[in-house]
Amino acid sequence: MRHWTLLGEAPIPGGDKKLALYQGKDDFFIKLSGGHELMSTRKHGSEDALGAIPCQRLQQSGQARVLIGGLGMGFTLAAALAVVGSQAELTVAELIPEVVEWNRGPLGDFSGRPLDDPRTRVHLGDVAKLLRQKREFYDVIALDVDNGPEGLTRNTNTWIYSEPGITAALSALRPDGILAYWSASPDRVFHDRLRRCGLMVEEISVHAHGKKGVRHTIWLASF
Ligand SMILES: C[S@@+](CC[C@H](N)C(=O)[O-])C[C@H]1O[C@@H](n2cnc3c(N)ncnc32)[C@H](O)[C@@H]1O
Repeated sequence: MRHWTLLGEAPIPGGDKKLALYQGKDDFFIKLSGGHELMSTRKHGSEDALGAIPCQRLQQSGQARVLIGGLGMGFTLAAALAVVGSQAELTVAELIPEVVEWNRGPLGDFSGRPLDDPRTRVHLGDVAKLLRQKREFYDVIALDVDNGPEGLTRNTNTWIYSEPGITAALSALRPDGILAYWSASPDRVFHDRLRRCGLMVEEISVHAHGKKGVRHTIWLASF
């Protein structure tokens, strides 16, 4: 039987749930209170794709401004850093301070310590605040704050995937920028919502790990 050690717990602001970090023999995972596994250091193919694919599509990625929400285990951030240039600026918004601390500890070894990269800035707080504040600022906005468009971690995250949330993200994006969303499963309603906002939408199905097994969904949306 596998043995897991509980390393830390963190309350999720604005809700009554908690995140818990566990360590196994040679991996880590983060669970939502109630038992749902949110992230694992063993499976991050789709998290990598969320960071890499939109940045690869940019005409000029050398000085790209990228917003990633949230940090999780840092794989999306690390994948975006690997693609953009030396003058790029990547902001990672993370709601839970403990998640940032966990990434600064031994968990960070799994993603290559992207928080230590001089191009990275951490915004401790709700990514929704940056979506509302910024105007035509980011080249890429890559969002993975929940299990998908239905807020599971936190009910208020539903706004991010609503029409007003998408509209706010579009205002924060440069006119030729790319919006990217991660989801554990396909969601026709969300896909259609992006199209209703006037966007061209590409839906990509990506393996969670390796070349077979579970797939996750990424939407790339642009004008
Ligand atoms: C599924 S994980 C992200 C996984 C990440 N893509 C990776 O590469 O590991 C979701 C993260 O978003 C954070 N989060 C949830 N709601 C948020 C919000 N509204 N703003 C910023 N971060 C949020 C969670 O604390 C968690 O760390």
